[in-house]
Amino acid sequence: MRPVVLKPDVYWAGAVDWKLRNFHGYTTNRGATYNAYLIVDEKTALIDTVKAPFAQELLERVEQIIPLEKVDYLICNHVEMDHSGSLPEVMKRIPNARVVCSVPQGVKGLTAHYGDYPYQGVKAGDSLSLGKRTLTFVHTPMLHWPDNMVSYCPEEKILFSNDAFGQHYASSKRFDDEVPLGEVMQEAAKYYANIVMPFHSQVKGALKAAAGLDIDVIAPSHGVMWRSSIERIVDAYAHWSFFSQEPDALRFEKESPETAVVVYQSMWRSTEKIAYAIADGFISRGIPTKLRDLDVCHRSDIMTDILEAKYIAVGSPTLNNNMLPDVAAFLTYMRGLAPKGRKGFAFGSYGWSGQSVAQVEEMLTACGVELLCEKMRLQYIPDGAMLSIISGQVENMKL
Ligand code: FEO
Repeated sequence: MRPVVLKPDVYWAGAVDWKLRNFHGYTTNRGATYNAYLIVDEKTALIDTVKAPFAQELLERVEQIIPLEKVDYLICNHVEMDHSGSLPEVMKRIPNARVVCSVPQGVKGLTAHYGDYPYQGVKAGDSLSLGKRTLTFVHTPMLHWPDNMVSYCPEEKILFSNDAFGQHYASSKRFDDEVPLGEVMQEAAKYYANIVMPFHSQVKGALKAAAGLDIDVIAPSHGVMWRSSIERIVDAYAHWSFFSQEPDALRFEKESPETAVVVYQSMWRSTEKIAYAIADGFISRGIPTKLRDLDVCHRSDIMTDILEAKYIAVGSPTLNNNMLPDVAAFLTYMRGLAPKGRKGFAFGSYGWSGQSVAQVEEMLTACGVELLCEKMRLQYIPDGAMLSIISGQVENMKL
């Protein structure tokens, strides 16, 4: 694939990872890209690198545009290795470049990963002149590492947003208006739910900073660039960051429907029967509900459902005095992502000891979920009458 022109003398030169299916535990069914950009001016800047195995692909693209020794700056917006992993290989081939990154955290992080290079630390608001163009650096710490920053080119109206507004989405196309928008928005939501969600306060700060910028293109480090649907993705981030904190207020403001997600795993389908009865209760009161069996649904997809859900019910039978390991893994994952303002409860069937439901409830509390009712715990196989009681309880529950 050739480099792609964003604007005259501004190029995409990154790499497409068609085969990636797992990004540290998050399933990436549509692959990924590691976007790097090149600005050719009186000085030449390469913005970010790519994951280590793709170094040669990046260098070949840059070489199609300009001799490698003419690269003056390598801008590292983020230390994480999907963007910096090929820095040692790239720096061998662009020996005249200085490495521009945030100070102190970028310099500290890159030094810890790769050792000494000619670092040029930049503070929030610093600018770097490339000739006719400049790059201004906006620090976005903890979005999602301490070192994060974004780079803005006012002359071209391009925001190089690094992880923000990204999607794990492999394509031969590079822009939002060249691919099905629904697919890209779905991947952007999954990216937000699994990477960005814990940092909703920082998202609000970043959106505030971006609101003051004149932007033609948002060029993230993953997925397609935004040029036709900028308002849509920025609105979605505002929506998701607000929802991460206050789903009630959001519902009021955006008229989004309340939704529920019932997450469970079952051994002999008794817990599953309770899950279906709970879902019936939510549905009977007009609340759209998703049933998610951990046997067949990945936790990273379930978190995408939870991104816009207000109610979460989680169920597990008891196995050897514990909840099932996949339920524990899901709850541990959700606790890390820390969705705010959700309400829910625990449920499950049991044979004799039945500790799992209390354990699920304890984890829900640790996740910050407000409990709506006592845990629902039924012995052995629930019959029709028991399931009707469960449905009715949910249907009439004070939410
Ligand atoms: Fe895409 Fe935080 O790295």
